[in-house]
Amino acid sequence: METAVAISLTLSVLTGLCAGQGLFPQGPVNGAEGGTVSFTTNLSPPAQPFIIISWSVGGVSIISSTNDDSIGPGYEDRITLNKTTGSLELRNLTLADSGEYKVAITTATAETINGSTELVVYENITDANITGPPNHLFANVSSANLTCEAAGNITAIQWMKDGQPLSAGDNILFSEEHRKVSISPVKRQDSGEYVCKLTNPASSATASYRMMVNYGPESMTILGQHIAEVESFTLIYCSVQSVPPATFTWLFNGQQTGVHEAGYSYNNSGDYRCDARNDLTGKVVSLGHSLSVKDKTPPPLSPEGAAGIAVAVMLVVVAVALGLYFGITHHRNKKENNEEKDTDALSRSSQTEDMSMSSPDKGREGHKLTTQIQDRTHDRKQPQPGTSHTIATSHSPGTKASAGVHEYEYMGNKKTRAPTPPPRGNVLTRQTNTGTGSNIYHKSIKW
Ligand SMILES: *[C@@H]1O[C@H](CO)[C@@H](O)[C@H](O)[C@H]1NC(C)=O
Ligand SMILES: *[C@@H]1O[C@H](CO)[C@@H](O)[C@H](O)[C@H]1NC(C)=O
Ligand SMILES: *[C@@H]1O[C@H](CO)[C@@H](O)[C@H](O)[C@H]1NC(C)=O
Ligand SMILES: *[C@@H]1O[C@H](CO)[C@@H](O)[C@H](O)[C@H]1NC(C)=O
Ligand SMILES: *[C@@H]1O[C@H](CO)[C@@H](O)[C@H](O)[C@H]1NC(C)=O
Ligand SMILES: *[C@@H]1O[C@H](CO)[C@@H](O)[C@H](O)[C@H]1NC(C)=O
Ligand SMILES: *[C@@H]1O[C@H](CO)[C@@H](O)[C@H](O)[C@H]1NC(C)=O
Ligand SMILES: *[C@@H]1O[C@H](CO)[C@@H](O)[C@H](O)[C@H]1NC(C)=O
Ligand SMILES: *[C@@H]1O[C@H](CO)[C@@H](O)[C@H](O)[C@H]1NC(C)=O
Repeated sequence: METAVAISLTLSVLTGLCAGQGLFPQGPVNGAEGGTVSFTTNLSPPAQPFIIISWSVGGVSIISSTNDDSIGPGYEDRITLNKTTGSLELRNLTLADSGEYKVAITTATAETINGSTELVVYENITDANITGPPNHLFANVSSANLTCEAAGNITAIQWMKDGQPLSAGDNILFSEEHRKVSISPVKRQDSGEYVCKLTNPASSATASYRMMVNYGPESMTILGQHIAEVESFTLIYCSVQSVPPATFTWLFNGQQTGVHEAGYSYNNSGDYRCDARNDLTGKVVSLGHSLSVKDKTPPPLSPEGAAGIAVAVMLVVVAVALGLYFGITHHRNKKENNEEKDTDALSRSSQTEDMSMSSPDKGREGHKLTTQIQDRTHDRKQPQPGTSHTIATSHSPGTKASAGVHEYEYMGNKKTRAPTPPPRGNVLTRQTNTGTGSNIYHKSIKW
């Protein structure tokens, strides 16, 4: 009896507070068309059952429950009443079910509890779709509109790019209640996956769109050594920023090599060139890379050897001087200012001759001598002790016969690491010149 009085008191307080509004949580109940909602009261089951529970919407009775249940037309299979709490479940919702729902409860002690709540039924969001630009987009040039569309009641639209919320910015503008994103001009970093999320309080849907901004090729670099060992292959790698990925073409001394990979395995002295082409932008960029193939480890020089080399060097110098002299004299008759060019041409033709040489032994011999001559030359120019093999040690990574590929992989993994730095510019030049010198030396042997 005491409990009954207590409940009765509580209910009286509740009822008196604000005409039964406290029976339900604040705000409307949201339902999806075809879905289910519950109007849940905050009543605890009473000690004695309620005498009458009546639910209505817009003045139309849904159910009146006493000893018998009287259910309104259209609700027969759609409702379940919890007689201990007065809560009502409503299924198979239609848009027409939206409205103000009222409940009136008569307790065993003849108290009346009234309450009301609002139901809003939303159409589910379906067929979400983003429409993007039909044409290819080019960085800094094109503009793009992305439009998000769907069927159903939409109350909010959010955009994400690559999983992060997309917000308006320098080149990004929202319009049509966030249905549309205008990007003008598109930047390369605007490439990515765009998602629009459409919501209403009862349902949501997403659509995604992958946008690609084309650019490049640009920022070309070539990774690889400038000096390699004879009999070893070294991988040289052409790297460029391009969307879509560039197609590569390698040239060797101006000739097509038929190699179209980014990586090119090479073993001949000469000038390599990488052409990268973006088929969409139509742009082509090129970069050259020179290589000198040297012998393995220069053997220590014996005094006699050194003397021999000195003689050889002198012979070479004399030969070059004579060659230059005759060349210059000869050509001066024709053209005044072409000495330099002609000398170059002479060097190049001798170089070609060397590479076409059939006997590998002869070739190797020539390279060995070349190395030594070059190192001595180096010595003379920078006479610090311990630098006689500076050139050899500076490209020691290449001394392992099969290390070329590993070397490259190492560089590839550690992208930050620059390729083995080439010897200083003038050393390179000297390499090339020495290459020519070696050819002249061969010629002198043939004499
Ligand atoms: C709408 O969504 C709800 C909840 O996801 C679902 O129960 C209902 O069947 C859907 N209605 C329609 C018409 O598809
Ligand atoms: C009525 O609701 C109460 C409280 O939520 C619950 O414990 C009880 O099982 C429900 N009764 C029925 C018949 O669903
Ligand atoms: C839901 O309601 C629609 C029309 O009001 C009816 O065609 C359908 O059979 C109902 N579904 C259920 C499970 O009651
Ligand atoms: C409670 O609701 C019933 C039926 O809707 C109504 O007759 C009665 O006047 C209401 N009482 C209060 C206190 O609001
Ligand atoms: C989105 O719309 C486009 C064009 O209207 C259509 O081709 C595409 O099939 C649609 N995608 C979806 C998932 O509805
Ligand atoms: C994008 O939409 C705007 C109108 O909102 C229009 O003026 C503009 O031409 C459209 N841009 C493109 C690239 O379609
Ligand atoms: C949902 O859309 C329908 C038809 O477009 C409309 O009649 C109804 O009022 C809308 N409902 C809401 C909650 O916006
Ligand atoms: C686009 O412009 C930015 C700076 O405004 C520049 O860094 C970038 O290289 C440009 N890209 C192209 C493809 O022109
Ligand atoms: C480069 O490799 C080719 C094919 O294996 C070989 O014929 C040629 O002699 C090599 N050249 C040098 C300089 O090692």
